[in-house]
Amino acid sequence: MIETTRKSLPKVKAPEGGRLTDAMVAEFRESGVIILEDFVSIADCNSLRARARELVEAFDPAKAPSVFSTTDEEQLDDQYFIESGDEIRFFFEADAFDDSGHLRQSMEDSLNKMGHAMHDLDPVFDRFSHSAELAEIAKRIGFRDPGIIQSMYIFKPPGIGGEVLCHQDSTYIYTEPESCVGFWFALEDATLDNGCMHFIPGAHKLPLKKRNYRSGEYKLTTEVLDAEPWPEHLKVPAEASAGTLVIFDGRAPHMSGPNNSARSRHAYTLHVIDKVCRYPAENWLQRSEDLPLRGFV
Ligand code: FE2
Repeated sequence: MIETTRKSLPKVKAPEGGRLTDAMVAEFRESGVIILEDFVSIADCNSLRARARELVEAFDPAKAPSVFSTTDEEQLDDQYFIESGDEIRFFFEADAFDDSGHLRQSMEDSLNKMGHAMHDLDPVFDRFSHSAELAEIAKRIGFRDPGIIQSMYIFKPPGIGGEVLCHQDSTYIYTEPESCVGFWFALEDATLDNGCMHFIPGAHKLPLKKRNYRSGEYKLTTEVLDAEPWPEHLKVPAEASAGTLVIFDGRAPHMSGPNNSARSRHAYTLHVIDKVCRYPAENWLQRSEDLPLRGFV
């Protein structure tokens, strides 16, 4: 059981230049999370959303296995996912299609996410993802040599945006020693009714409960390391207005409910590891040598 009496998550106005104070860093260490309001301007949120829309419009759904697969769908899904670490690929919501295989909503409102290398492959996402402010934050929370290992654009569409069960990101982005930190940018308001994230404050001090790894060419296995259930009754919502940056430890358990509202909940995330740590070859996400791992600058 965790020793925490915290009923809220630390939330502050984003400090100038990413210069987190010692007190903010202490709050992050204690909670596993810190919420920085007004980190991104609304104009920058809107330009990232506009760029995402352009990429969606250029997406050919025939290339995604959820639409175009006739045999062994699971294998194709895994291959499409596993090979997306250095690509820009699109993943549908589970409820995107009706019984006859047609999209229920617009393409943008049918997608779960886009990933996992926009920050390296797309000039607009590249500019957003690399900044002196983010580099300063990374330094202050203890990174020696940060590397942005993946980017995701989360659509959480209205009506069909699915629930995400409690998990730790270090399950998937594992290093030795663990170093993963998530940088999550709200591009639209994330509220209780459109499926904002929730965290269990302080629960990043619990062990890593699962580890996901490649167990075959296109096969992934998730091994349970600790079967103790999460103390989910201690979860706290991380409501975030557009422009907010939520930074969280790779061990911080988090989840989000379904989006039953009529509004989307777009967010952009970066996952960062310390390049001084070992990055195992069995992690699902592997990048080609043509795409070296870069930091924030
Ligand atoms: Fe996550």
